[in-house]
Amino acid sequence: HDQLAELITTHLREIPDFPEKGILFRDITPLLADGEAFGQLIDLLAARYRGKVDAIAGLESRGFVLAAPLAIKLGVGMLTIRKGGKLPGPVIGVDYDLEYGSARMEIRPDSVRENDRVLIIDDVLATGGTAKAAIELVERSGASVTAVCVLMELLALKGRDQLSAYEVDAFVSF
Ligand code: PRP
Ligand code: MG
Repeated sequence: HDQLAELITTHLREIPDFPEKGILFRDITPLLADGEAFGQLIDLLAARYRGKVDAIAGLESRGFVLAAPLAIKLGVGMLTIRKGGKLPGPVIGVDYDLEYGSARMEIRPDSVRENDRVLIIDDVLATGGTAKAAIELVERSGASVTAVCVLMELLALKGRDQLSAYEVDAFVSF
């Protein structure tokens, strides 16, 4: 946990007023661009979840970047939970409000194996709307959610309150 926190904090870039005035954007691209750091991140995440999950669900788009290498490292499959209108059918979807704007996430339920233990992964937990939608999609597809894993959590937005029935692993809080 400490190692993950250190790795993430030392490779973050903070951009004020992006994508809108008043929002401090926390950018993980420096972490991804550093091959050694990115590899360490995936190794540490893999050590934490090895043997506990049967699939990794990545949330488009920034969650995909974490989900794919983690799935390969753990030898399990990856599920893509996508923004509305991107996946060919049949899909199921959930509409929700975002920190800025509104959104819809979708999944192909036939991509999910029944009763699989699924880890949902994303870069940041803000209002929790995206993660909550993802949980609903995984469960409606017949699998169960083992935990929601995010690199960062924005405490002021209380996203965790929406996910109180689930394990939420966040390594850095702001
Ligand atoms: C951001 C972030 C999370 C989500 C968190 O994604 O990557 O997925 O918002 O917000 P919430 O907890 O309030 O739902 P964004 O929609 O900006 O898209 P991106 O990942 O494609 O950049
Ligand atoms: Mg996102």
